[in-house]
Amino acid sequence: MQFKATEDFSVMTLKKSVVVTDQLENVLGTVISSFPDDKLFLVMDRNSERFCLPLICDTPNIERFKKVVIPNGEEHKSLSSVEQIWLFLSQSGADRKSLVVNLGGGMVTDLGSFAASTFKRGVEFVNIPTTLLSQVDASVGGKTGFNFNGFKNEIGVINQPHQVIIDTRFLKTLDHENIISGYAEMIKHGLIHSQEHLAELRKFDLHRPDYAILQGMIARSVMIKEYFVEKDPREKNIRKALNFGHTIGHAFESYSLKKSQPLLHGHAVAFGMIAELYLSRLNCGFPDGILHHLSGWISSIYGKYPIETADYETFYELMGHDKKNEGKRINFTLITSVGEVEINRDCTKEQIFEALDYFRELNND
Ligand code: GLY
Repeated sequence: MQFKATEDFSVMTLKKSVVVTDQLENVLGTVISSFPDDKLFLVMDRNSERFCLPLICDTPNIERFKKVVIPNGEEHKSLSSVEQIWLFLSQSGADRKSLVVNLGGGMVTDLGSFAASTFKRGVEFVNIPTTLLSQVDASVGGKTGFNFNGFKNEIGVINQPHQVIIDTRFLKTLDHENIISGYAEMIKHGLIHSQEHLAELRKFDLHRPDYAILQGMIARSVMIKEYFVEKDPREKNIRKALNFGHTIGHAFESYSLKKSQPLLHGHAVAFGMIAELYLSRLNCGFPDGILHHLSGWISSIYGKYPIETADYETFYELMGHDKKNEGKRINFTLITSVGEVEINRDCTKEQIFEALDYFRELNND
């Protein structure tokens, strides 16, 4: 199925449920004023408690929140962390009128929103994403869940947040690697939707980020994500556009974990996008010149990641474990040009190995 976005930024707006601001306290203060004072719950991990809570401490009535702090790290994106949140809600008198506010990166917003969505068959939740990755991707679109049986996000539900509040002041605490990790999802949004977004991303100085400019780019990136989510919230068809770069990207991510040198999610997606741009050329006629141009640019941001032909079978197996595949086929989202998406493209093993060759040659010199 082929899809070309019909809207450009001049006619796009953010839904009321997503606010990009540098005055988080005011927005949050207004949101919580419509919930009972004794029914406010704040979910954080140790990092967000330490580095991000101070930024919201001037919110009116912040002292009314009952706080639960879960451990940091992907290994705690687990059923036991969900249980910890459920137990806390249950013992603290949470009910259907409660509000759960999730403050943190993608792990906290995914877990906290899953716990809220399932507690007493669902209570309202607000996401306050504090990393660039969670601001432009995880906190928006309603995907919630946790890792299970060795698979990422194996258990979860899709449930839209009451509100997402994005404040770029949090980003000032992030290092360069975490900024570029989130930036990969913004690049993906440019590739699947718009030349205009891609052009502004290419101009931006990632080494000396201007946060005012970044705030505008985040808002536009989120608009693109919402555009696809709104058309297909349950990922039956065109929401799959958002999976561009992720089939091979997830294989890079799992491979790096096996080697005990974990890549950040966005870096793995960036590498996946290079290989999938090549597959797009092979399978959908994506222009050669633009492929080389874009791969060179993405490589210049994320650096080299040398791989060996001996690892191709492992990569292929890891792609087979991706839950987007139906049966034994390896299913890809590809692009015919910037802003034109092809979903449900099956690629052969030979084509995938050729794409890995392209990636290897770019990275091994
Ligand atoms: N991260 C892709 C999506 O939310 O559909």
